[in-house]
Amino acid sequence: MAEAKATILFVGDLVGSVGRRTLLQCLPLLRERYAPTFVVVNGENVAGGLGITPKAGRELLSAGVDAITLGNHAYHRREIYPYLDEEKRIVRPYNYLKGQPGRGACVVERDGLRLGVINLSGNLYVRAGRSAFTEVEVALRELGDVEHVLVDMHAEASSEKIGMGWLLDGRVTAVVGTHTHVPTADARVLPGGTAYITDVGMTGARGGVIGVKREQAVEALVTQMPVRFETSEDDPWLMGVLVRCSTPRRADSIEQVLMPRPQQAAGR
Ligand SMILES: [Fe+2]
Ligand SMILES: [Fe+2]
Repeated sequence: MAEAKATILFVGDLVGSVGRRTLLQCLPLLRERYAPTFVVVNGENVAGGLGITPKAGRELLSAGVDAITLGNHAYHRREIYPYLDEEKRIVRPYNYLKGQPGRGACVVERDGLRLGVINLSGNLYVRAGRSAFTEVEVALRELGDVEHVLVDMHAEASSEKIGMGWLLDGRVTAVVGTHTHVPTADARVLPGGTAYITDVGMTGARGGVIGVKREQAVEALVTQMPVRFETSEDDPWLMGVLVRCSTPRRADSIEQVLMPRPQQAAGR
């Protein structure tokens, strides 16, 4: 089989500006440690915890992020709609309606290697106009002949994410789950050679409740009344996975990258 040596760093949902800053501070260290060929991040919560703005998208891409995936908060900010149509390196779930802004798959290139990135949304407890499980076949055909494929399956239900892993085992390089903001302990390479994890986790404040200030989240849970949510800044961590590959569309390994934001710059 042809060589297609690559290392893919995928980073889970950046939550708020603290998530963005944590990524930007960790990235030079991660580049030094792992020399990733490709860096892909989920940016659905980067703008104040909900959605993404063109400014945040541009900042991530100019910091060397190769592609950005999204999820159920993709359309929270109206100003992102034209950007989703223009910028090919940012993708929202492929199985949204065709009439909704943006696209669901893209191809990026580094060191003569092409990485196809597909974003999908689960169909349980999150809104998506079409089935992830049928539309992913269309997305794969659209990508055509690329050396590697990374699928971000953004879903609430672990069953849908595990099912997607098995459906694509042996056909794509990696299926990574996002959305719950909590990393799972099941990272592994499936028998067919696809790297898989049910949830990568988030890049944001571990001291909150999935990114929200814990006092506010707890108050809402206790009182069952509406509470204004703000992004927590307490104890930020980067959560991601590193996928190493040597042959096309197959992974040799997947390991979790769980890293606190570097101390010296944490005051910013
Ligand atoms: Fe998220
Ligand atoms: Fe989400």
